[in-house]
Amino acid sequence: MRMVKIITTALFVAGSLSFASAATAEANFKRCIACHGVKAEKVPPGGTIASATLKADEIKKTLRGYKNDKTYGGKMKMTMQLQVKPFSEEDLDALADYIFTNFYIAK
Ligand code: HEC
Repeated sequence: MRMVKIITTALFVAGSLSFASAATAEANFKRCIACHGVKAEKVPPGGTIASATLKADEIKKTLRGYKNDKTYGGKMKMTMQLQVKPFSEEDLDALADYIFTNFYIAK
């Protein structure tokens, strides 16, 4: 019986953690709106595509690229290098999932 309680508690904690990270992503996304639009639907100034047209995995790859590879991206890459700096890779993945889940525009 005791084991069941421990497992239930563990599941509850895991559940609230993923909820927290979605809420964090929603808050973090506010920093992106000025250039990308409220639904990531705009092509950012100097950019080439709207993030909302990308799949979650593509957004993750892009954000990790800006974070980990100084040569990654287009002519405005330095803008994005600065934007992703405060975030961990987990934060960036959560942001990518948040954008894809809420705003995806099929091409
Ligand atoms: C100051 C304006 C600005 C802000 C703020 C900003 N971006 Fe960007 N973003 C750009 C520009 C410009 C590019 C194109 C960069 C390049 O040339 O590689 C870009 C590119 C991207 C891309 C690659 C695909 C695309 O849409 O062009 C993603 C994904 C992205 N940004 C996500 C974000 C996220 C998530 C945030 C918030 C954490 C954010 N950006 C904040 C300007 C901005």
